[in-house]
Amino acid sequence: MNDFERFKFVKQIVPTHPIDARSATPSRFLPFPPIYPPMYQFDIAAGSKAELYRDLLAALDALTADEPDPIANMANAAALIWEYLPDLNWAGFYRNVDGGLVLGPFQGKVACIRIAFGDGVCGAAAKTRETQLVEDVLAFPGHIACDVASRSELVVPVVVEGRLVGVLDLDSPSPARFDAEDTKGCEALVALLGPRIA
Ligand code: SME
Repeated sequence: MNDFERFKFVKQIVPTHPIDARSATPSRFLPFPPIYPPMYQFDIAAGSKAELYRDLLAALDALTADEPDPIANMANAAALIWEYLPDLNWAGFYRNVDGGLVLGPFQGKVACIRIAFGDGVCGAAAKTRETQLVEDVLAFPGHIACDVASRSELVVPVVVEGRLVGVLDLDSPSPARFDAEDTKGCEALVALLGPRIA
């Protein structure tokens, strides 16, 4: 059994047969007994937007609090938002790499990889460091259409200790999908997440 097979083997048996795992041969490749979180289960209320964002914030906190890796945290944040915010066709991050935006973890269709500050909605958020709420992307000068289905967009800059880390970008196929509550909710998510992806 090579390292990868051993990892797969242990990962498979631990959640369902923890006692078997404890009595199995210790591995020098993983902490023993290996500890994996249970399947994540989030109690996300769908009653109102305020409740939805309140619960999303709590879930994001739980997911990222103990994880120091920025890419892992961006990836889980994108997946969480994608799963629980309705009516999206893209959710993810662009990172500030040497003064330009570079595609980060996301959910949705493949997207343009590099965006200059000032270009498109993401570049506008990066340049101004202000949230961009675009009700109609077709009316936004310079909008970059990664997915032709996109009709509205919300981009929140991630600023940590004065440094622009990147942007959170959400796209929807519905015109005017995002409103002031989405802005407030997503800015709260970014405020929590910022230091954990910096
Ligand atoms: N529409 C964005 C580009 C990124 S994609 O939507 C994923 C923009 O205008 O900056």
